[in-house]
Amino acid sequence: MLIKSRRPWELPEAAATPEALFFNRRKILTTAGAIALSGALASCDAKSSAAVKTGTDPSAKFYPAKRDPLYKLDRALSPERVVETYNNYYEFGTEKEIYEDAQALPIRPWSVSIEGEVEKPFTVAVDDLIAKMPLEERLYRHRCVEAWAMAVPWTGFAMKSLVDLAKPLSKATFVEMQTFMKPDVASGQRQPWYPWPYTEGLTMAEATNPLAFLVTGVYGKPLPKQMGAPLRLAVPWKYGFKSIKAIVRFRFQSAQPKTYWQTVGPTEYGFWANVNPKVPHPRWSQASERLIGTEQRVPTQLFNGYAEQVAAIYKGMGGLGDRLYR
Ligand code: MTE
Repeated sequence: MLIKSRRPWELPEAAATPEALFFNRRKILTTAGAIALSGALASCDAKSSAAVKTGTDPSAKFYPAKRDPLYKLDRALSPERVVETYNNYYEFGTEKEIYEDAQALPIRPWSVSIEGEVEKPFTVAVDDLIAKMPLEERLYRHRCVEAWAMAVPWTGFAMKSLVDLAKPLSKATFVEMQTFMKPDVASGQRQPWYPWPYTEGLTMAEATNPLAFLVTGVYGKPLPKQMGAPLRLAVPWKYGFKSIKAIVRFRFQSAQPKTYWQTVGPTEYGFWANVNPKVPHPRWSQASERLIGTEQRVPTQLFNGYAEQVAAIYKGMGGLGDRLYR
């Protein structure tokens, strides 16, 4: 595959934008609804609330789901409007403000296929899958590799429930996940130097860890398109790029999947991607993170604060050294 090396304007924002400018822009977004700003910004704000409406989603009846009290936060939830208008979704562009463009993605009908080393491969309509699964709400942190973070009330189901439904064979040691491929509506996918479709992967131990969560909703309603509707992953102990959006395929296999970001930048975005404040990204520190919505900067924790739940998965993998956490 021909991979073009990234140009300066394609760098993650934390690296590409001087911090003062970057912080200013977030601040404007955060307070745009609260204070009278220029006409341009005010109309941008009105568009944003229209863009995040999900009232016609056929799964709306399932929300809000009961909150699982096991999953608590040590910080306030991030403001909904900020979370839903500040996104990473390269299929729709490299900017954070892709929420309007993402509305072009048709999310019904939507099929999810279960393939590879399973008892019997099958395809399921996303609404049938959602109806079958034990939906619950969980409060999770999310830490992007770009050093911004948020705290979000996801609704969804444990990925283990999907693995149980898939009935993988014993030789399946990894699960590869893929996003849709629709260059007609997703302008980013018309840029051939990226390795589309977006692909991610987990080991079976990771996929069946109780924290691995398949997300169908947020803030007590169906997931908006810009956040990965109708089905995305949330693996909160890993950098956010692992949490693949708009999944159409789960492939159970014995080979480690070749992921999208690993292909784009193998020295910067590894397969494991566990959050680790002690291992800097080659171009910036990972010691602290910026909370979107408040702009507060707080220390980053190993495994994003979820070490108790996941550290055991990586015992005995010392041979990978620091690369384990990249
Ligand atoms: N999934 C797809 N298909 N395409 C993407 O560009 N970006 C990832 C992840 N999942 C991405 C994706 C990154 S880098 C992050 S930080 C999170 O989505 C952002 O999720 P959010 O936009 O809901 O905050």
